[in-house]
Amino acid sequence: MHFDDQAPDIKPTDLRGILRYVPQWRGHVFVIALDGAIVRDENFANILLDLAVLRSLHIRIVIVLGIGTPLQELAAARGVTLSDLRGEAPVDDATLDLAVEAAARVSHEVMRGLTANGLKCVAANAVRAAEAGILKGVDQMHRGKVDKVDAALLRELIDAEIVPLVPVIVFGRDGRTLRVNSDALASELSHALQASKLIFLTPYPGLHLSGRFVTNIKVEAVRDMLETEPEAIDEALRSKVRHAVRTIEGGTPRVHIMDGRISEGLLTEIFSKVGVGTMVYGNEYQQIRRARRFDIHAIHAITRNAVRTDALRYRTRSAIEKEIDRFFVYEIDDSVIGCAALVPYPGTEIGEIASVSVQPFYQNRGVGRKLVDFAILEAEQRGMQAVVALTTQSVAFFRDLCGFEEGSPSDLPPERRQIHEKSGRNSRVLVKRL
Ligand SMILES: CC(C)(COP(=O)(O)OP(=O)(O)OC[C@H]1O[C@@H](n2cnc3c(N)ncnc32)[C@H](O)[C@@H]1OP(=O)(O)O)[C@@H](O)C(=O)NCCC(=O)NCCS
Repeated sequence: MHFDDQAPDIKPTDLRGILRYVPQWRGHVFVIALDGAIVRDENFANILLDLAVLRSLHIRIVIVLGIGTPLQELAAARGVTLSDLRGEAPVDDATLDLAVEAAARVSHEVMRGLTANGLKCVAANAVRAAEAGILKGVDQMHRGKVDKVDAALLRELIDAEIVPLVPVIVFGRDGRTLRVNSDALASELSHALQASKLIFLTPYPGLHLSGRFVTNIKVEAVRDMLETEPEAIDEALRSKVRHAVRTIEGGTPRVHIMDGRISEGLLTEIFSKVGVGTMVYGNEYQQIRRARRFDIHAIHAITRNAVRTDALRYRTRSAIEKEIDRFFVYEIDDSVIGCAALVPYPGTEIGEIASVSVQPFYQNRGVGRKLVDFAILEAEQRGMQAVVALTTQSVAFFRDLCGFEEGSPSDLPPERRQIHEKSGRNSRVLVKRL
């Protein structure tokens, strides 16, 4: 057998791209919400391996245990009619009994799996619930809502390298047993721990909007959609989307909704730029906004600096004015300190990330990379297949920090190639496929 036949299906470039994201999350808290169906899925063993990898990279994880599918199965086996499946309706005595049993089973299965993968874990009693009470005249019985999260306890556990498992069966102040919704629970935990990510592992691929799969979407777009046309969001995921918005508003910048049945999907979602599911993202980019006419002066001033050192091609004020819709700016305390533009090449699915420029005083603080990341997200949302950057002095910035590969003028459409050749600037062409 030829050695190549055994080579794993991964290109060295993929590996470089992935490894670059690894140190980024060291020490961060991720809340992982496991749908009950995922614990039952044959891929669950792989998820456990992925969790072990995350721990080995010093990512601190907290797991929320959903119980939907096991609860349904128990109900069917016992012939019990459930009054509620997700902690969203009145929970009667029989439903609570089965929910307690389902939660114990799920917790047992996850603990067994984590233990088998060398991870320490505990079922943490770290949430106090309040009764949901009477809503619109209907007694919610044993249905609860999160009242308080014991973040100190959870932090102590994760600091001691113990993975806390948080069940949806929790206690009220007086010790009363209550059932809470797992999406709301995950959201509250993310807020209390100021998690960097909340990841919903579901039996669905992620979001489809207007028939198109969405790899990433701004929280504002999702919020608008929930208000104006909630039916555009798959019903099965609507609660997760709603909680994604709440979570981001609570300070966790990224929420992922992804298929937990894909082997190595979790690692791909976290460490590769595109991932396998849908990422809803928020305030990480809150300082970036679309440029408006009154920004022309600032953009001209910032780019002029880079033009002096021949880092950027000169653009007159009127050229900037003409293209102002393509620019976005990075603002600190109401003043623009960086800019970039995404210029689509007509008739292609390629966009150029141009005029990336940060005021010298603000350089080396991550602003340039955020501008480029933002432009990439924007290009993905517009369905572009690739982005290019032409640069004389920042090849390493695009290649090593922003994940571009070195290309050549032949990657440009003919018209752009001509301009490139005529300019005599001899810029290098960098490409990132999306
Ligand atoms: C390139 C530029 C936009 C980067 O902005 P920034 O806000 O300083 O970048 P970030 O803070 O996100 O990234 C800083 C990292 O990029 C590296 N970097 C910045 N400029 C670089 C360059 N020209 N070449 C290689 N690496 C560079 C820094 O060393 C730093 O690396 P580190 O994180 O390993 O320490 C900024 O230097 C600039 O305005 N340059 C002039 C204009 C230009 O060349 N634009 C690109 C052509 S479109």
